[in-house]
Formats: sequence, C-alpha cells, structure tokens
Amino acid sequence: MSTINIIGNVTRDTYITLDSHQSTIEKGRYDTPWLTAPFDDSHSLKYFNEITTLGGSAITQDIFSIFGHEPAIINDPTMDDEPDLTDRYILTVDNHALHLFPTTPKQTIFTAPVNPPDYLYIGRSANLDITAVTSIINYLHIHQNVKLILFISKRTNPSGRPYENDLLARSDLIISDIEFNTERPILYIGKNILSYGSLSVPLSLTPKNRLMTTLSSHSLIAAAFAASMISGHGPKQALLFAKATIEHSTLIASPSYNKLKDIIMDQDYLIQNDTSKPNAIPEVELTVERLMVPGKGILAADESGGSIKKKFEAAGIPDEEEVRRTYRNIFFTTPGISEYLTGIILFDETARQKSDDGRTFPQFISDLGIIPGIKVDLGLEPIPESPDENYTKGLDTLGDRLAEYYDMGARFAKWRAAFNVTNSTPSELAIDKNCEILAEYAKICQEHNIVPIVEPEVVHDGDYTIRASAEITSKILNKLFEQLEQRSVNLKGCILKVNMCLAGSRYEIQSSAAEVGRVTAEVLKAIVPDKLAGVVFLSGGQEVEQSTNNLAEIIKNGPFPWYVTFSFARALQDPVIDTLKNIPENIPVAQGAFLERLKANQLALGHQEPGKE
Ligand code: 13P
Repeated sequence: MSTINIIGNVTRDTYITLDSHQSTIEKGRYDTPWLTAPFDDSHSLKYFNEITTLGGSAITQDIFSIFGHEPAIINDPTMDDEPDLTDRYILTVDNHALHLFPTTPKQTIFTAPVNPPDYLYIGRSANLDITAVTSIINYLHIHQNVKLILFISKRTNPSGRPYENDLLARSDLIISDIEFNTERPILYIGKNILSYGSLSVPLSLTPKNRLMTTLSSHSLIAAAFAASMISGHGPKQALLFAKATIEHSTLIASPSYNKLKDIIMDQDYLIQNDTSKPNAIPEVELTVERLMVPGKGILAADESGGSIKKKFEAAGIPDEEEVRRTYRNIFFTTPGISEYLTGIILFDETARQKSDDGRTFPQFISDLGIIPGIKVDLGLEPIPESPDENYTKGLDTLGDRLAEYYDMGARFAKWRAAFNVTNSTPSELAIDKNCEILAEYAKICQEHNIVPIVEPEVVHDGDYTIRASAEITSKILNKLFEQLEQRSVNLKGCILKVNMCLAGSRYEIQSSAAEVGRVTAEVLKAIVPDKLAGVVFLSGGQEVEQSTNNLAEIIKNGPFPWYVTFSFARALQDPVIDTLKNIPENIPVAQGAFLERLKANQLALGHQEPGKE
C-alpha cells in the first residue's frame, strides 16, 4: 500500500439523457457532435434521466482506493462545505454525447503536503501555471524520496512549455494521450489501444463507456495502470488491469479489485509485443471470443420485412410496426436468455426500435451481456445469366451501413446466400458469384471491426438426397474458403453459418439424426480451415426438435478444431409464434416456449472442449 497525493481538479459531471423524439445529436465533420434542437421560446427540451458523478481527480482517487492504496487529493474541494467544483454537462441521445465544458478550466493550486507521500500524481485534470509547476519541482527537489507520476495531455502540454522538461525528467512514470516523442516507455492511451513500450493491448469499449468524457475515461485508465504498477504488477498486468477497469466501469462506479482480478485472469494472450501494429489483436478476434462460448449460441431474430409478414399472416397476427416491436421484445425480455445466448442478430428495423423502457434494442441487448448483430444483406435478386437462381445484393452500400451499425452497437453481421437444389442448380456460376460476394462482404465487415458471419445455405426445401446435400455443401464451402483466402479475410475473426447436411424436405427418405451428424461432421472437418473462429448452424425449416437432435448428433461426431453451436431462427422462434397464435396475450407462456428451446439446444451442445481437437 502506498500513499499518493493527487494534483488536479475535481469535476462534477451531470449526464442528461434527452428524449430522442424531440432532438438529435448528430456527428458532424471530424466526429464533432452537434445538437439539433429548436432554441426558441416555443420549445423546451425534455430529458428523462440524469446522473451526476464526480470526475477528474475524484475518479483517480477512487481507482487508487480500489487497488488498496491511500490516495488524497491536494486541496480536495469535496472536503469543503461549499465545494468549488468544475461543473460540466453531458447531453446524451441514444449513444451520442455532447459535452458542455466551461471555456476556462480552473487553475490547480499546489499546496505542499505536510507529510511527504510515496507518490505525487499529476493527473489529466491538472491545470498548472508556471508558479505551481515551480513549487512542485522545488518540493520534489527537497523530497528526493517522493516519486512522480505525470499525465501529459493537450491541456497540460500546450506547445511544450519549458518547465515540462523538468517535470518529465523527474517523473518515474509518464502517461500520455497525445503523440509523444521520448526514448522512455510511457503509457500511451489511444482511442482503441493502450501501449507501454513495446507492449500493447486493444480496448473494446461499449457505446456506454464511450459516453464517458475523455477526462473520465483517460483518468480511469491512467490511475488503474499506475495503481497496478505501484502495487508491484509488471507492465503487462498493469495494461490488463487498465483495460479491464475502463471496459467494466459504468458512469458511476468501477469494479472491485477482486472483480478486476477475475476479469484479467489468463488474459496474457491479449498482450501484443509490437506497437508498430497498434491493432495487432484485431477487434474482430476479441468479439469472436465473446461470441463463441461453450454452451451458448446465437439467436437469429433477423427475419426481413417480407419474411416476418409471411410468418405473421400465417399466424393471424397483424403485420404492423408496433406489433413487430412487441414480438421482438418478447424474445429479448425472456428472463435468463444470456445463459444461453452470446449474440442476437437483428434486422434493420429492429435495430432502430426501442424496448419498453426507451433503450434501443441493441443497447438493451448489450446491457444483458449479449452482443447485438445485424443482418446486412438486402435480400435475393435473380442472377441475370441464370434467372432461376439468385445472388444476394447489398454490397454497394455496405461500408456506410456497417459504420452506422457499429455506432448503434452492432459488433457482428450476417449475410445469407441461398442455393436451391434442383437437377440443374446450383450452377457453378451461382456458386462462384455468391461466394465472391460473401468473401467481399466479409472483408468489408472486418475493415469496420465487425465480425462477419458468412452464411451459404443449401435450402432444405427440395427433393434431393443427403449425399447430394453433402456434395453441394462441400462444393460451396470449398469455393467460399478459396475466396475468403484470396481476399485475406482473417478467419480468426470470421464465423461460418451453414446448413446441416440432410436430405431435402421433399425427398421420400428423410435422413436420421445419426446420419446427419456423421455426414455433416465429415464435410466440415474435410473443408473448414482449423483457424476459423467458429461454425454455427441454421435450422433451415426443419422440425423444431429435429434441428436440436441433429445438432446433438453433429456435436457427438466432434471434437472439431472450431467452436460449433446453433444460430437458429425458426427452430427457436416458431414455438413462440405457435403460442401467440393461440393466446396472443399470453407472453409468459410464449417466453417459456422460447426458453425450453434454448435449454434443449444448450443440452445438445454437450461439453465441447473449447475449440480444439
Ligand atoms: P433458420 O434457423 O430459420 O434457418 O434461420 C437462420 C437464419 O439466420 C437464416 O438466414
């Protein structure tokens, strides 16, 4: 345990969530947020949530305490009867934030501590003039045993003030969030990365973390790193502590030391040794780690407008936007789903809708600890040269849409190519074209830090044998991986979604689960590269229980070099529709039916050894 005296300002940050119906915050050029609101007498801005929290040095103090040290803020204003805090306001709408800060930050006064601490910590919130800096340097000169930790930021380092060099020379640890030329290792805080010397670790921040002011988030990171170094952890561990602290802090609280320790356990693999490649562990690989978790699967709740209309009409449910919202809400609010699901794929409309409490569905799902995904293909279109066959469209606008979906919280995407089996189809042309498009989609997703699920589907509805299914699936997968390889798609950040190999639904002899398990496993093992992150199955319109039994048999034919799990739409959701058809208002029964399918499929997954033969 060490004593630390913190030099800096305490801010009082008030986060106000605006009602998004009446105003929007838009991103302008250079990512500058703009509030679009009618500033005239006839309007008032309404908000429905407010959080006030102490930032700046107060956060630094909290973090040092969490690590078991004894921090104190020099001239701590919170100890006064009438605290002299810097007030700042953060207006948020959905996942955008507009920060209102005073134009002139308060000066930070340095009062020499009576009892010399182990460390002086000049935080990011410090606003020191030459007098204060000179006093600090003098103090350190007299008290040679006091160590110095220095945060250099734009604020503390306007155009390289001369005295900064003295402080730098005296520092035992330097932290910075600006490009900084020095021979010594420093903790560098980038937008998506932390590095120290040649070590680096990527950050994966949720939209909620991103609402935090830069001062708060960088203060958290810096303090956690420094506190951990002071505690005797090496820089590797300190980077992981800092990462865990920012990724798991909310606007008002940070995890306990024990919780942080649990989070970083066995995470040494996250550390990179080459800062010249700041994203040496790409974000997609980190997302995949959270998606491919033993015993859990992915819900495809992403039926397009057309598909949901058909479903609803067949069940006598009105196809209206609010009904569709309520319908999706039934799945997302089913108690306990995060025990079974790591991801939920949404359709564009759903990703823009809100839960009953006003959170967007992606936000609502993230808050459950489930990753929101998004269907990004725009449906099927006949291939001009082979009009009985289809290709999947949507590539031309994909980049822009992915950037928006990322901002909305999506971290993985899905693109489906469908192949109907007849005597003459699928043709080589249809296979080539669709696999090229799938691979191109995957590449664009990864450029946007979104994990691509590539989904070639041999359509179950058809009159063909299990052997034909296996042959056609093999052909498609061979082509698909050839194309992915050609475009250098990172397979460690990519997931295959595929049909099980089985006879078409109109073939006279239906495949047994044992057969499906054996044949599907054989095909996949022969073709799918070991380094792929995972394989997930679609249900394809099989009977609900048939999908589960077939999945269980496939798993029995493992182990596989990748995680294998379910990503069903119909086999998880049809029982819910059936229940609503009979008793539309009986939502708990519908949710019970959903949970039953989740449990059965979890059971089918058995106890796979994580991803390895
Ligand atoms: P099914 O499980 O209903 O086949 O749907 C999976 C899917 O996501 C199709 O694109």
